[in-house]
Amino acid sequence: MKPIFIDCDTGVDDALAILAALQSPQVEVLGISTVAGNVEADAAFRNTLAVLELVSADSIPVAKGMEAPLTRTLTTAKEVHGESGLGNLTLPDVAGKGMTEHGVDFLIRTVKQSDRPVTLVLLGPLTNMAVALKKDPSIANNIAELVIMGGADAAGGNVTPVAEFNIYVDPEAARIVLESGLPTRLVTWDVCLDAWLTEAELKELEQSAEPAANVAHELIQFLRTLYNKDHSALSDPAAMCALLDESVIESESLPIEVETAGTVTRGMTVIDTRPFATIPVTNDARPRVQVARKLYRERFAAVFMNALMRK
Ligand code: RIB
Ligand code: CA
Repeated sequence: MKPIFIDCDTGVDDALAILAALQSPQVEVLGISTVAGNVEADAAFRNTLAVLELVSADSIPVAKGMEAPLTRTLTTAKEVHGESGLGNLTLPDVAGKGMTEHGVDFLIRTVKQSDRPVTLVLLGPLTNMAVALKKDPSIANNIAELVIMGGADAAGGNVTPVAEFNIYVDPEAARIVLESGLPTRLVTWDVCLDAWLTEAELKELEQSAEPAANVAHELIQFLRTLYNKDHSALSDPAAMCALLDESVIESESLPIEVETAGTVTRGMTVIDTRPFATIPVTNDARPRVQVARKLYRERFAAVFMNALMRK
């Protein structure tokens, strides 16, 4: 089992990714830090605790992190995730639950105390991760990999024509994290558009004996109703499933930069896909990360469903 630590802004798709991780024999969830993003910090914290409670996984430690981006005012996405951030889900009372330790300190402590390098799965704005790297750069010595849901390439963004939400909310944090030099896999909005489930697959989740599968079905139905489409992009589950099974996604090492000065282009991930860009040259100071270029939907569905249904 691979030790992982999740940082998220629990909204609907974060919850789906957490459920898949909890149910998967591939990974051990060491802990979760929450960050302001889809919803305000308190709501993301509450929602994460609620998801764990719903599937009797409330032994997983959760700590609340940063309440706002590094320099900008918070942009939320309640129009996508609903007022609570978890669609129409009836939430259990989690008052008084969770840790009092700050989420950034919890992330740092968990990484440093792990006896094996930790894979960090970053599913929200990268504020917590950026602050953690600044506060204690030594955590880099025990991080196996960053798996990040974020960024947009040729398909364009979901907040603006060029920016994806997690990067748009905190471009300064994204630049710090992507320039860290840590092994990084970036699961972009582009490939998440291919991460969806068919009617038959959803029916299977609905009829499963696994509470996690039933909760996932209800959350996905909320997204489909909202989008009034069959193919609502399951972004955070795509990133989590890319970790659970590397064959879900094809990636390529590419130079990347984050636009922080632009107004129209705020949060744009400038990924250089030009043919010669794939040739590392000595004077190219741009960070290079593994950028997802293709997601295999059937493989994604199999990995996601099998995890949720413990198959
Ligand atoms: O752009 C999609 C991403 O932004 C997802 O992680 C979603 O949960 C929001 O955080
Ligand atoms: Ca998210």
